[in-house]
Amino acid sequence: MPSPAASATRKLFVTTALPYANGPFHIGHIMEYIQADIWVRFQRMQGHQVHFVCADDTHGAPIMLKAEDLGLTPEQLIAQVGASHIDDWRRYLISFDTTHTTHSPENVELAQSIYCALRDHSPSLIDSRTIEQFYDPVKGMFLPDRYIKGACPKCGARDQYGDACDACGSTYAPTDLLEPYSTLTGARPELKPSEHLFFRLSDPRVVGFLERWTRETPLQPEVFNKIQEWVGGSAAAGGTKLNDWDISRDAPYFGIPIPDAPGKFFYVWLDAPIGYLAALKKHFDSGAARRTYASETRSFEAFLADPAVEQYHFIGKDIVYFHTLFWPAMLHFSGRKTPTNVFVHGFLVMASGEKMSKSRGTGISPQRYTELGMNPEWLRYYLAAKLNDRVEDLDFNPDDFVARVNSDLVGKYVNIASRAAPFIQKHFGGALSAALVEPDPASATGIARGARDAIAAAYNGREYGRAVREVMRIADRINERFDQAKPWELAKDPARRIELHEVCSDTLNAFLALTYYLAPILPATAERVARLFGRAWPLAWRDVDTPATRITPYEHLLSRIDPKLIDTLLMPENPAPQLSPAKAEEDAESRADAKNPTISIDDFTKIDLRIARIVNAERVDGADKLLQLTLDVGEGRLRTVFAGIKSVYDPAQLIGRLTPMVANLAPRKMKFGVSEGMVLAASGDGPGIYLLAPDDGAQPGMRVK
Ligand code: MSP
Ligand code: ZN
Repeated sequence: MPSPAASATRKLFVTTALPYANGPFHIGHIMEYIQADIWVRFQRMQGHQVHFVCADDTHGAPIMLKAEDLGLTPEQLIAQVGASHIDDWRRYLISFDTTHTTHSPENVELAQSIYCALRDHSPSLIDSRTIEQFYDPVKGMFLPDRYIKGACPKCGARDQYGDACDACGSTYAPTDLLEPYSTLTGARPELKPSEHLFFRLSDPRVVGFLERWTRETPLQPEVFNKIQEWVGGSAAAGGTKLNDWDISRDAPYFGIPIPDAPGKFFYVWLDAPIGYLAALKKHFDSGAARRTYASETRSFEAFLADPAVEQYHFIGKDIVYFHTLFWPAMLHFSGRKTPTNVFVHGFLVMASGEKMSKSRGTGISPQRYTELGMNPEWLRYYLAAKLNDRVEDLDFNPDDFVARVNSDLVGKYVNIASRAAPFIQKHFGGALSAALVEPDPASATGIARGARDAIAAAYNGREYGRAVREVMRIADRINERFDQAKPWELAKDPARRIELHEVCSDTLNAFLALTYYLAPILPATAERVARLFGRAWPLAWRDVDTPATRITPYEHLLSRIDPKLIDTLLMPENPAPQLSPAKAEEDAESRADAKNPTISIDDFTKIDLRIARIVNAERVDGADKLLQLTLDVGEGRLRTVFAGIKSVYDPAQLIGRLTPMVANLAPRKMKFGVSEGMVLAASGDGPGIYLLAPDDGAQPGMRVK
């Protein structure tokens, strides 16, 4: 069946929300990247031109204060966090074309020029007003609300935040708190006047524009309704619930200076979405856009202004306000095009079943997930199977995760190839039957190819769960047919050789079609399959119908999840330093009395911590993780200790170093010998393990206390 003429090439500018540069990603972030990445990969497979960008959101008081706490400059903090974000995007196969940061010259230039454009309207859309705000006299800064606590004005409960009381549930303003204090210094905050700049969102021009934009944009119904609530009475009726938006902050603040207001900076949420444009500008100015699409020779501004370019932002439900009110208004009133749409998802939450609460942790660290060697495509598949176009929270259910990946993805889809391919190899030298050029619609291949347009529509509409269900339904039918045909019997009967060839070729052609359908979700697996069938990568959707002619010897495609890994993944984060191979058991013991987190000094002195010199270090035959250390602890004899640091230390590097050790740990008999103690090292969420070292002057045998 010939494919319908490809629709005209779309030009798409796509972003996810810009993550705060204040820490590593949690699993919810990863979900958003996966959702957007699947859509983008699908559009690229259609032959559309996609410019998919992201950036770190780096400004604001929390990042400034966190850096200070850590003894870093904000620039150092955002550089460190930025590197971890880039690692995670790569690990989870997120195919951004360009990533950037809001702390960049592009963003400064764009934010300042957008602000100036708003200011220069006549009458101006920027207003200046003096407001009273809490000020921490010790810290010398105005306090964002979240840094003020005090007693509830209604019930007197202490240590409540400035907006609502946890004890009695009443809501109020920070200025209503009794005995307020700054959580930064404990000082009593003072009310101090300061001049602030406001974007006049309540101006009838802005309200009128937002009403129009909301009407003309094909928003999700939940999003549309929310905006109606916010915008309230119509501009025509002279009423709105919208308040003007405070866009300035006083120094000290880590942000972009406001051009005509010395000592004042843009509030982070002003420059954050402008970061979308800054990243796109970098993408164009660096030549990356043109390298990807040779025909795209325009400037960033020309591309952005092109009415044919579609602009989409994937975001979570908590930031709809910023993206459907402030952001379109900022763009429109600075003479720019507004977003074509904003795609809003709900939150990923952990299933609250009993398995999650006690023995298992409450969250999943995406860093730990990959460190355990778990396959990111499992997560991509599971989330895809649950995602739809609604603003709905999704449950991460560990048992369901294992079941869907193992029974559906591997048990149904991968299984097809692993059953059929060996017959083609063994009996036909890898050549597929040519009888399938025009497959019968009732054949496996016909059924699989027939779903092409429905699955494309599901992807385009972000109904990935629907696409996955359709693929699995077809996989079931393909497996059923294969079972009914009993190729293992056909293979025994030379007279039925042609039948065997056709059944297996039909099955594999159907498998190949399903691979196209899953490629946006499973790019690494699909690439392996493409190689098996001698197809060019990346796959193009229009080639679904092209018959496969050969298959190279079957290579392993995707394994099942070992459910034991899930327990390790969900285990409460363990802060104890790594090292001794006896670690796992010790952890189990120490967790047993975790109810009592504090220990007495007597407990501590029970541990005989000593400085040891590593006099020899060597690999252990047959051990993947261990090094055998010979330690001098100043006791006239040497000790042997096995340490799980082979992955990070070269033995030669260690010889001669000093390090603390636990000297009174009961000796432990291991496969490779007796371990007489444990050396200490630090480790965190990342892959590193860091052996501790004393300052100069320490000697072997010295006590650490
Ligand atoms: N920096 C702002 C966005 C600026 S966009 C110009 C921000 N950052 S964030 O790091 O807090 O969140 C980034 C994205 O992750 C947001 O879209 C947010 O909704 C999403 N998620 C945060 N927690 C989430 C879940 N638990 N589940 C799904 N998405 C989640 O907001
Ligand atoms: Zn109260």
